[in-house]
Amino acid sequence: MCGIVGYIGTQAATDILMAGLEKLEYRGYDSAGVATIWEGDIHSIRAKGKLYNLRQKLEEIANPAQIGIGHTRWATHGKPEEYNAHPHTDTRRRVAVVQNGIIENYRQLREELQKRGHEFSSDTDTEVIPHLIAEFLQNLPTPKNPLPTPLLEAVRQTVNRLKGAFAIAVICADYPDELIVARQQAPLIIGFGQGEFFCASDTPAIVPHTSAVLNLENGELARLTPLGVEVYNFGGDRLKKFPRTLNWNPVQVEKQGFRHFMLKEIYEQPGVVRSCLENYINDDWHFDGSGVVADLAADGVTDVRDEVTDLAADGLTDVTDGVTDLAADGVTDVGGKLGEKRNNPSVSSPPISKATSSSSAANQPPIKLGIPDSLYANLEQIQILACGTSWHASLVGKYLLEQLAGIPTMVQYASEFRYAPSPLMKNTLTIGVTQSGETADTLAALEMERQRRIDLGAEYEVKLLGITNRAESSLAHLVPHIIETHAGIEIGVAATKTFVTQLVAFYCLALDLAYRRKTLPLSKIAEIITGLRQLPAQIEIVLESQERYIEELAHDFSETQDFIFIGRGINFPIALEGALKLKEISYIHAEGYPAGEMKHGPIALLDAKVPVVAIAMPGMVYEKVLSNAQEAKARDARLIGVTPMNDEEAAHVFDNLLPVPVVDELLSPILTVIPLQLLAYHIAARRGLDVDQPRNLAKSVTVE
Ligand code: F6R
Repeated sequence: MCGIVGYIGTQAATDILMAGLEKLEYRGYDSAGVATIWEGDIHSIRAKGKLYNLRQKLEEIANPAQIGIGHTRWATHGKPEEYNAHPHTDTRRRVAVVQNGIIENYRQLREELQKRGHEFSSDTDTEVIPHLIAEFLQNLPTPKNPLPTPLLEAVRQTVNRLKGAFAIAVICADYPDELIVARQQAPLIIGFGQGEFFCASDTPAIVPHTSAVLNLENGELARLTPLGVEVYNFGGDRLKKFPRTLNWNPVQVEKQGFRHFMLKEIYEQPGVVRSCLENYINDDWHFDGSGVVADLAADGVTDVRDEVTDLAADGLTDVTDGVTDLAADGVTDVGGKLGEKRNNPSVSSPPISKATSSSSAANQPPIKLGIPDSLYANLEQIQILACGTSWHASLVGKYLLEQLAGIPTMVQYASEFRYAPSPLMKNTLTIGVTQSGETADTLAALEMERQRRIDLGAEYEVKLLGITNRAESSLAHLVPHIIETHAGIEIGVAATKTFVTQLVAFYCLALDLAYRRKTLPLSKIAEIITGLRQLPAQIEIVLESQERYIEELAHDFSETQDFIFIGRGINFPIALEGALKLKEISYIHAEGYPAGEMKHGPIALLDAKVPVVAIAMPGMVYEKVLSNAQEAKARDARLIGVTPMNDEEAAHVFDNLLPVPVVDELLSPILTVIPLQLLAYHIAARRGLDVDQPRNLAKSVTVE
């Protein structure tokens, strides 16, 4: 949370800082400010509220400064008032600082500084930093090998006194050609231009200017001048570092004609699901059925008619290898059934390579996540740590890991796990799920888990895996293996496309484990993969067929104050997610419940003013959800159903239908969540709310 930017070069710094802050506003928008050095002084302009207010103030002043820092704030210490907005300065206003993070020992530092005559003008933790830097500048203790400039050395000494997680950018009126940045557990990226350099909390602020970037690591600080960048560690050693090239396109961070980023990101879901699947499903793996036939024969089963029929029903036609082998073994009664299916053109199936045999399928895993066998070896348990929407995706993940791979799985709120971890068990894989890769609670919970296992020795081997949309994030530094979700940058604060790609990551992980642990027949794995590949086109169908209708439907809820979402089984987490989306962007109270639990309490809330959204997809719990919906209807609730298309039974039960293509219940969450995202979006947009930047929220929650 909070976004910081910095610039040094030959252009007007204020314009570049403001453009950068616009791209980072998703990280916080309680207040904002910029500070530049101009005619030998610090010029700091700050405003409460959104960037628009700061822009208006800046328009009144012409400022050609070529160095500056900026900040957009999500309040932690101190109210969102102008006096708490960054940049903060020292008493003499020679040093200005912006910070993202939390300085945990700020009280103690503040008291010390006050005793030495420093005056403070804010309630923030950040303000101690410019005061410390100013003090060190006046009275620098001379270390053996001081850094090349006093400002750099003063910042180094200062960061060594700070406890907590922080990224800072510093300018000083007495050193107008230097911008100093430092990082400890909060993101900071440096951009390399021609005679100009940038820094920011996140890449969207930098990509419009350059694709050459360097991620500062924890415990590093850097000096940016118009001539180049020098990087040091907090101990004062110079480090050799080289920028990497981003393969980002600046257009990705534009709205491209959509009214809001959130709507654009909802529409990007078919594409990102497709690209995530392309990354992780092995095109070279084809299941031809022969392995199963051969396995049966090896088990002494001779009459495999039923199996062949099932395979054909799954659309798998090329079982000839197995049949031939069986024939060679004297088994004759498999050809008839297979022949019937072969000659029946109504059985469609993906093309299957003739050359593929059971053994080649076995040699080429269906899923390619790049996870070494050692991480999976002897697994007895999985625990998943996450927050918010990522926690909901993890609940779907638990269902898949348990049902497909047969591994007991726990899902924990990272913020709770930190202070009440489950008793340690051996042979446990711990998965951190965070789209931003920066959520402080998730990172801290993972770090704690890592440490407590190290403390207990080799018996409690550390096995960590991350699922994130940001391959360069702090999570990726913390864990040795990540599954990247390939959703592209998500700007809307409400997670949408990152959620569905987290689900795809879990499908792939569960299938990979199922394959390696042999908990599913290959035919079932092939069937799920075929279903996954159809999802992008099916999401498109939902978007095309539903958006207009949902936009109209949203009109009916302009006065609604409460919503209930219900679902069961694999769609219970989707009920939670539908409720979270609605409450976070429309500010309507909404609760997600397992449908069967309604009668144990929440049903008391129901009346004609409380709409109930039920996710009812055919499968194990379809009839049950319909009954639970009927119970709500009997209490006068308006019933909205996310149901399969053309389902007559559902049409009788629900007042409004949000139909999705008919799919296996197991795959349905990736479809059922789409109308719920659209519903939340259109209700919020209809109310005229700031959909992309809802109040009190931030995209990356980098504080505890
Ligand atoms: C909801 C939302 C938040 C995040 C939560 C975790 O739309 O965006 O609930 O899901 O703050 O964020 P990450 O996934 O970045 O750890």
